[in-house]
Amino acid sequence: MFEKIAVIGAGTMGHGIAEIVALKGYSVFMCDVSEEILQEAIKKIEWSLRKMMEKGKLRHDDLASTLNRIKTTTNLAEAAKDSELIIEAVPENLELKKEIFSKLDKMAYAEAILGTNTSSLPISEIASVTSRPDKVIGIHFFNPPVFMPLVEIVCGDKTSSQTVDHVLSFVKTLEKQAIVCRKDVPGFVVNRILEALIQEAAWMVHRGEASILEVDSAVKYRAKLPMGLFELSDYVGIDVLYSAGKAIQDRDKGVIVSPLFEEYYKNGWYGKKSGKGFYTYTGDLWEKPKIPPELADNVKLEEIFAPAVNAAAWLLRNKVVEKEELDKAVMLGLNFPEGILRMADKWGIDVIVQVLRLKQSKYGEYYRPDLLLEEMVANNRLGIKTRGGFYEYA
Ligand code: 3HC
Repeated sequence: MFEKIAVIGAGTMGHGIAEIVALKGYSVFMCDVSEEILQEAIKKIEWSLRKMMEKGKLRHDDLASTLNRIKTTTNLAEAAKDSELIIEAVPENLELKKEIFSKLDKMAYAEAILGTNTSSLPISEIASVTSRPDKVIGIHFFNPPVFMPLVEIVCGDKTSSQTVDHVLSFVKTLEKQAIVCRKDVPGFVVNRILEALIQEAAWMVHRGEASILEVDSAVKYRAKLPMGLFELSDYVGIDVLYSAGKAIQDRDKGVIVSPLFEEYYKNGWYGKKSGKGFYTYTGDLWEKPKIPPELADNVKLEEIFAPAVNAAAWLLRNKVVEKEELDKAVMLGLNFPEGILRMADKWGIDVIVQVLRLKQSKYGEYYRPDLLLEEMVANNRLGIKTRGGFYEYA
């Protein structure tokens, strides 16, 4: 197993990954382009560890030893040279990632595994600039890495099963659970579903079918997701979700980014980090927007979720992931109270298909129901009401 790990990029995800890895006993080299960024990252890690200590989840000694295990450098070669596993978490720019992987390939041990935390860029293309595509793999954490229980492992075309096994064992030592995305599809599993969901919410607001508060109230209080979709977008970063959505759209139109996201992105309204997003923030890092519960019945959940169910059906039909793993992915990667396929079985597959057909007739082919859903309706597998949908019901 690995002893030394390098994390390249000390932004929102990079510093969180370095934190969880150090917490679980590994020595970590955290690398970024400037001392200021690295010091800011260390401050955030310290804040997070202190919070855990205040809540009795971490002993004082462990706080000190965790911090001691994190070294920082602005020198990529220094971070790479002794590391057995390198996790890259730089901004979502394919050319930048390729440049870094090409350098890492020359700097790291021949046996070292090169992981990327990309949220939607092609692993195979990143791997193609290295001499070890069998050892390049997606290791996708969720924000905040220290709390979210899932790591999504993504195989490129040439990733070896040995590399997958090593990384799965590593994830276990972090006390996290993994799902394996078997094909390098745009958005992988979680972001393909999440983007379809969030962009649909944004399209509905753009078209005047619902307000931001109505969507968030329905999602939070009726679907019982931990955050409203606009609240989550502000939390993760509208810039991050915009780029991930665009990357999926450019590769296979698995989602169409809404004009609302485009507008916020272009204006630099990125969410919490910029003080303004779909909500406004006064500075407290953990400030929560006020979402009135009484608006929860103003919008139908099926309207918001149908494209995400369609994306889930696409993933199943294309054998990217098994149904149980897909549901596990949204429950552990996004903290959904239940799997999206279970939710669809409750709403009724026929209802989802009807919603999609109506949207398709009004707004175009993106909404065409997936063949798998059409087949399920044709075979009367409508969900709980017919005792069989994605799952069987007694
Ligand atoms: N470390 C330590 N403490 C932290 C912290 C951190 N990194 N972040 C927040 N906290 C603290 C807060 O300061 C607050 O402390 P307080 O109680 O003293 O005020 C406390 O934790 C928050 O506690 P809450 O009880 O309010 O937290 P919740 O129960 O609301 O849980 C959550 C927070 C886990 C973030 C939950 O809201 C959630 O699951 N949200 C959805 C997150 C999600 O979906 N993430 C994935 C996004 S997609 C992604 O990342 C993929 C990428 O590729 C786009």
